Amino acid sequence: MKWIITYLTSSIGKKQIMGCTGAFLALFIFGHMCGNFQLLNFDQASAQASYNAYTEFLTGFNPLHFPIKMIYLVELVLVAAFALHIFLAVTLKIENKKARGNVGYEVNARKGKKTFATFTMIWSGLFVLGFLVQHLMMLKFGEHYLYMNDKGEIVRDMWLTTIQMFANPGWAAFYVISMFVIGVHLFHAISSAFQTMGIAHQKWTPIIDIAGIVYSVVVALGFGITAVAAFYLSGQPETQALIEKSRALQPQYEQQKAKMDAEKKASFVIPSIGEVQVSLNIEK
Ligand code: HEM
Repeated sequence: MKWIITYLTSSIGKKQIMGCTGAFLALFIFGHMCGNFQLLNFDQASAQASYNAYTEFLTGFNPLHFPIKMIYLVELVLVAAFALHIFLAVTLKIENKKARGNVGYEVNARKGKKTFATFTMIWSGLFVLGFLVQHLMMLKFGEHYLYMNDKGEIVRDMWLTTIQMFANPGWAAFYVISMFVIGVHLFHAISSAFQTMGIAHQKWTPIIDIAGIVYSVVVALGFGITAVAAFYLSGQPETQALIEKSRALQPQYEQQKAKMDAEKKASFVIPSIGEVQVSLNIEK
């Protein structure tokens, strides 16, 4: 037990956990980017249908019938990984500053010099944190558009919410700049993580470095292109027509909500007690 505490509080232990949480987050980012490629479909009605089906699938996915939705578990793991990653980064930065005075900890041991990416690691990381707060505020708690799915149910239109977020040229530009910063962060993070894991090999290290560059450029460009495409689509008349269609669904949505609320409440009579009201939480 003692060795676990020693490991977790040691500098190398913290760096290795940072590397593992970082690798997990990098995998998430890649998957997220691939999912978002559906925003590159310029046939608005078909993009709206496929993107909303995709987000409905993600939010409703629960093959093992857990009492809580899988998406909440995934979100919990993501928040924990982000929090641990950032906490360790800041702790290591403070510890190294104390130990070395003005010399930061992110020294490129292989080349013996600091690069732009290593120097800015903590700042690009904190920028990503700020970006994420803004990102989730705008999408999760942002504008609610409505969409009727192929089952005739009225659900949230995540496609319109996402596309309309980019309607503001300021936000579209902020996203493109953010993707550059995220790319710079990922670029150094990958080679640094492999170094921390002790993988420094004459043959493999250059390959890992190139893979790191390719990965960060693909991610920055992939997200960046998506942001530009969404900005373009948001200004198109077809998108405006879909917004009108979404607004027209409001009265039907109110009816659907009222019906669902009524269905959740049921009452029955137990002779010795009288009328019992039960409230059921029906989850599909
Ligand atoms: C063009 C760029 C991007 C677009 C269009 C986009 C779009 C979205 C959308 C539509 C959601 C779902 C929100 C919801 O369920 O309420 C989301 C969630 C999220 N995004 Fe992005 N995203 C982009 C870039 C990024 C980047 C670069 C990161 C990471 C650095 C990121 C991290 C996240 C996270 C952590 C979530 C929450 C996941 C969850 O709740 O399960 N996104 N994004």
